[in-house]
Amino acid sequence: MAWVMRFFVSFILFIVTHIQLSNGLKSRSDFPTGFVFGAGSSAYQIEGAAAEDGRKPGIWDNYTHAGKMVDKSTGDITSDQYHHYKEDVKLMHKMGLDAYRFSISWSRLIPDGHGAVNPKGLNYYNNLINELVSYGIEPHVTLSHLDIPQSLQDEYDGYLSPKFIEDFTAYADFCFKEFGDRVKHWITFNEPNIQTVGGNDLGDIPPSRCSYPFGVDCSIGNSTTEPYIGVHIILLSHASAVQLYRAKYQEIQRGQIGITILAFWYEPVSGSPKDIAATQRMLEFHLGWILDPLVYGDYPATMRNIVGSRLPLFTKNESEQLKSSCDVIGLNHYSALPIKDLPRTFSKYGSDYVRDISVKGLFLKPMLHRQEPMSHFDSRSLQRLLEYVKVKYKNPAVVIHENGLPAHGENYNAQALKDTKRVEYLQSYIRSLLLSIRNGSDVRGYFVWSFMDCFEILDGYESHFGLYAVDFNDEKRKRYPRMSAKWFTSFLTKEKNSAGISSY
Ligand SMILES: *[C@@H]1O[C@H](CO)[C@@H](O)[C@H](O)[C@H]1NC(C)=O
Ligand SMILES: *[C@@H]1O[C@H](CO)[C@@H](O)[C@H](O)[C@H]1NC(C)=O
Ligand SMILES: *[C@@H]1O[C@H](CO)[C@@H](O)[C@H](O)[C@H]1NC(C)=O
Ligand SMILES: *[C@@H]1O[C@H](CO)[C@@H](O)[C@H](O)[C@H]1NC(C)=O
Repeated sequence: MAWVMRFFVSFILFIVTHIQLSNGLKSRSDFPTGFVFGAGSSAYQIEGAAAEDGRKPGIWDNYTHAGKMVDKSTGDITSDQYHHYKEDVKLMHKMGLDAYRFSISWSRLIPDGHGAVNPKGLNYYNNLINELVSYGIEPHVTLSHLDIPQSLQDEYDGYLSPKFIEDFTAYADFCFKEFGDRVKHWITFNEPNIQTVGGNDLGDIPPSRCSYPFGVDCSIGNSTTEPYIGVHIILLSHASAVQLYRAKYQEIQRGQIGITILAFWYEPVSGSPKDIAATQRMLEFHLGWILDPLVYGDYPATMRNIVGSRLPLFTKNESEQLKSSCDVIGLNHYSALPIKDLPRTFSKYGSDYVRDISVKGLFLKPMLHRQEPMSHFDSRSLQRLLEYVKVKYKNPAVVIHENGLPAHGENYNAQALKDTKRVEYLQSYIRSLLLSIRNGSDVRGYFVWSFMDCFEILDGYESHFGLYAVDFNDEKRKRYPRMSAKWFTSFLTKEKNSAGISSY
């Protein structure tokens, strides 16, 4: 059968080379020295071992165990990286990754959210970090990736209470102290700008709160106020952890710290002034909600005008603290979404985040994960996003923390492994990224979402983004490289080709 294999390998190489030539993107050496290429995951989505070695539930465990996912799935086992991290780090090394982006499960490390540390949790993250470092792969660590301990949710409604600031800061302190000698890249929170929209307005991700008539299945919550309170407390928690890192660790450990936001680009569906204004409103609510406080010390004026007294105020001190609280900003970018103006509707229940923006096209779930297949991507969305961030937010240091293409259905049959569309998508986006850098955007790194198939937060196991496929029916969770893994490997490990990207 050897000739079959040889034929298969040359066929793959032919395809890969062909795609490369047709896109003009040759290798990573087109990028500035020091630019970091990696791939990512998050704790609940990839670790498994959910009730093992002293870990207690996070809000995702309770949510999935209540049967709330479309496919009724859980992250109890998922890709089981907890038991396979050595094998996975070898695969990362083979791929030529400079960095691996992952998150720490707060309830694995400090099971009740505060108080006693779980020694086995501490041991796991030390092992993972050491394994990465031993292969020269930089750990890029997120402290809270859409997940917090269920006990803090039960105790005081999690990030709706100012008590959360102190607990988060203490947890961050512990992580800096234990891991900061080896971890030089910290992110406090992942995607606060969707966490509270999904978790506290629409109620379709944990903690699954909302109020009639705004969300789905609302028994507890307040959609009109909680999304704004939640982001406010998360921002203050971020600023507090950063202040501590700067005062106590940064000078010695020489690391960087920031926050990561979901960053779609938005395009008006028409040239009408109303649709153009709606698109700007969408950008202010989606990006400005987080970036304005981080750069200018307050929420956008548009939001203050529309949301009024439901939007919390910052004290002068808090403003000052926020303004300088990011060494780097992470952007999770997938695509552009079309925006159409909708007249603002009021009801006796008031208004929620969605009605505050009053646009059609906000509904991320159908737009991102149900659109099948996402065949009409246009990677200029990334260039437009980066240009907007550069101009509006004083050209901050940026890392693309997520970029990738979903596929649906069977995840590891022959067809699912031959993910040519994903190869085209990644190539196209990486090329756009390079053009943005050449046009002055200060981008420091790029991470594919995701390193391997895992529990996806909107679709469970019904969609997959991995460079590696995982056989979820196999007890051993065998990993299979997709064509995209082979392409990324060749992109990362190939010597510089003299033609470069300019020949495109
Ligand atoms: C969350 O899950 C844990 C463990 O299954 C359970 O003890 C607890 O009651 C749950 N809490 C809520 C609010 O559902
Ligand atoms: C939400 O909070 C606002 C402001 O406190 C209040 O006016 C409104 O009645 C609350 N809504 C619900 C459903 O509790
Ligand atoms: C504001 O910051 C200043 C200087 O950092 C500090 O002395 C003061 O106590 C702070 N005030 C409040 C209300 O936190
Ligand atoms: C490149 O940057 C300049 C200055 O910000 C801007 O005017 C121009 O539109 C940018 N080009 C692209 C393609 O984004």
